[in-house]
Amino acid sequence: MNLSRDILKTEVEIADRVRALGQEVTQHYKGQEISLLGVLKGSFIFMADLARQVKLPAQVGFLEIITSRKTEFMTEIVFSSSFRIEGTHLLIVEDILDTGVTLAYLMQQIQLYQPRTLRVCTLLDKPHRRKVDLQPDHVGFQVPDRHVVGYGLDYQGQYRNLPYLGYVE
Ligand code: IMP
Ligand code: MG
Repeated sequence: MNLSRDILKTEVEIADRVRALGQEVTQHYKGQEISLLGVLKGSFIFMADLARQVKLPAQVGFLEIITSRKTEFMTEIVFSSSFRIEGTHLLIVEDILDTGVTLAYLMQQIQLYQPRTLRVCTLLDKPHRRKVDLQPDHVGFQVPDRHVVGYGLDYQGQYRNLPYLGYVE
């Protein structure tokens, strides 16, 4: 698979949309303190840009979901550092929502830590691929069913550092 010549979103288009998303989030949580929790690795660039557009007091943290290659059922959530969930207004920050299976599992686990509220902000959404009943609260762009790379998203570990969103083919 190589990088396609097609560009999904340019750097300028992404920056404009992330600014608007930041305003949307700021408006929704107005007057409150929030917790931004990014899902690694794909969300690292989106989080850095979104967090600066959220004009509220915020704690920022990351977690990684590790699935055992052997069983595929042994899934573990690893927090990158201490992060308080209980009683907070928690916003999960995702790169892309595809089948929704990963996020559904994550939300179920996070609920056990009793956040005061729990919402989801995803940069990209492939709604036609959904296998579980899950609607993200804030969406950057809806995208077609092709493999997207760049701006944090990878194909086999590559292309995360592309500054725009493209495709591999
Ligand atoms: P889901 O459980 O099918 O929703 O999987 C979501 C995860 O798969 C995302 O958080 C991404 O890490 C990865 N993923 C799904 N589609 C793409 C894509 O087009 N490009 C890069 N990663 C993707
Ligand atoms: Mg992800």
